[in-house]
Amino acid sequence: MVNPQHKAIRSVEMKKIVKHFPGVLAVDEVDFDVQAGEVHALLGENGAGKSTLMKILYGLYSANAGETLINGHPVSIKSPRTAIELGIGMIHQHFMLVPSLTVAENVAMGLRSSRGLLLDIDIVSERVRKLSEIYNLNVDPAVPIWHLSVGEQQRVEILRALYKEASLLILDEPTAVLTPQEVDDLFKILRRMKEDGHSLIFISHKLKEVLAISDRITVLRDGRKVDTIPAETATRASLAQMMVGREVVLRYEYEPVEIEESRLALTGVHANSDRGYAGLIDINLTVHSGEIVGVAGVSGNGQQELAQVIAGLRPTSQGNIYLDGKKIDSCSANQRSLMGLSYIPEERMIEGVIKDFTVAENVVLHGFDQFPFAWKGFFLNLGAIKKTTRQHIIDYEIKTPSTETPVKSLSGGNIQKLVLARELSREPHVLIAAQPTRGVDIGATEYIHRRLLQARKVGVAILLISEDLDEILALSDRIVVIYEGKIVGEVSREEANINEIGLMMAGASQPE
Ligand SMILES: Nc1ncnc2c1ncn2[C@@H]1O[C@H](COP(=O)(O)OP(=O)(O)OP(=O)(O)O)[C@@H](O)[C@H]1O
Ligand SMILES: [Mg+2]
Repeated sequence: MVNPQHKAIRSVEMKKIVKHFPGVLAVDEVDFDVQAGEVHALLGENGAGKSTLMKILYGLYSANAGETLINGHPVSIKSPRTAIELGIGMIHQHFMLVPSLTVAENVAMGLRSSRGLLLDIDIVSERVRKLSEIYNLNVDPAVPIWHLSVGEQQRVEILRALYKEASLLILDEPTAVLTPQEVDDLFKILRRMKEDGHSLIFISHKLKEVLAISDRITVLRDGRKVDTIPAETATRASLAQMMVGREVVLRYEYEPVEIEESRLALTGVHANSDRGYAGLIDINLTVHSGEIVGVAGVSGNGQQELAQVIAGLRPTSQGNIYLDGKKIDSCSANQRSLMGLSYIPEERMIEGVIKDFTVAENVVLHGFDQFPFAWKGFFLNLGAIKKTTRQHIIDYEIKTPSTETPVKSLSGGNIQKLVLARELSREPHVLIAAQPTRGVDIGATEYIHRRLLQARKVGVAILLISEDLDEILALSDRIVVIYEGKIVGEVSREEANINEIGLMMAGASQPE
């Protein structure tokens, strides 16, 4: 079944596009084009200009110079409304759906009815059902959004674009929030769209994904285009080289370290999830000094609850938590932090920073009343704050015009790096790292992995929560698998087997 109902974009060309922000040349004379029936991937380090270029195409930013042509004709895209009229759709990383409304109601939102004021929701539902069938989106129009998983919500966003007859779809890091299974499903949908003559622009930091789905790949570095190449001539190594300008290792020397005393212990911990059902069931877990314990699992199986009960952001309903042998159940998050617990939250954009504050202010978010930033708890040592911030910027290659730039104008990945820099530099006893490399580029991933191993070497006890099995296997001394709020298996580094762990993650097999 073919879906001819999209606005026929045969080609989009962006020529010599320039975009300045205060203190930054975000996009510097970039040429970029995409053809019907093609997936064109956009690659580059954090802050390279990918999102900015796409926001220009979607009418969210206006370029300082350059032109855009559709089917060979110059167009002026001044707002997303114009973009949509021209047949361009964009899926943002943060979805713009109303949780209490149904799928059909969300799709209908903002649509103009041809039949007068009110859209007939039955007609919308019918078409949603049809589109869902054609593209195997597997979404029920009558279900409210809050019932849906992240992957399903993303498919609703895709549906919304298809409903508006988008011919070109821009996907900015669509896989960052998906489980491996959901990534496969998304790729099936994208391939189907491609067959129907859609053009797709795909942004991701995961080279494996880029190689799997794209026809051509364009690499940006520091706002400039490095090259556009056919995907079949690219390898992970060659792409990394193009992006970073040097070889990226992503394989580490793993030295055994002396496992010492227990730093973090959970005994019989139960906790509720946000929706009231059991989020954690009878968790028993110990992390020793100098040890990285990896928590493998498909997201939504209790990982977030686990990190939050340890950090003091979610109450336990039963059981105890010990930090350095002291019971901390009744300690606040702040007290735990002062006792030596660092937490790199998964939702770094929400829990990790205050977006209106500057880079420097965010560096001292937790430590502002402590030495060396304050003396006797009184005045802020601005010199020390700036110096630390500058060091973080250098060490983590955080792209920012200055220490005084508000965090909200940094690129997504650079905000992540800032939180990591802050939490890792606090010399914690125990570190909870939730999805520490999600959304960061490969150069920074390598650096963060090295920093975690370094912390392990000096005796930090690390709980590494990640959906990325390669990451878990590369870094962990021990791996536990979490499924439906329970720890369903534990293996040592030596006996770890990727297939077996994958099965346990899916709840398929439980070792006795
Ligand atoms: N609204 C804005 N105001 C000021 N500067 C901005 C704004 N948006 C982006 N920038 C800057 O422009 C540059 C490019 O940012 P952009 O978001 O396009 O990067 P990106 O390639 O998408 O990175 P990431 O992989 O981290 O998402 C960065 O230096 C960023 O700080
Ligand atoms: Mg971006």
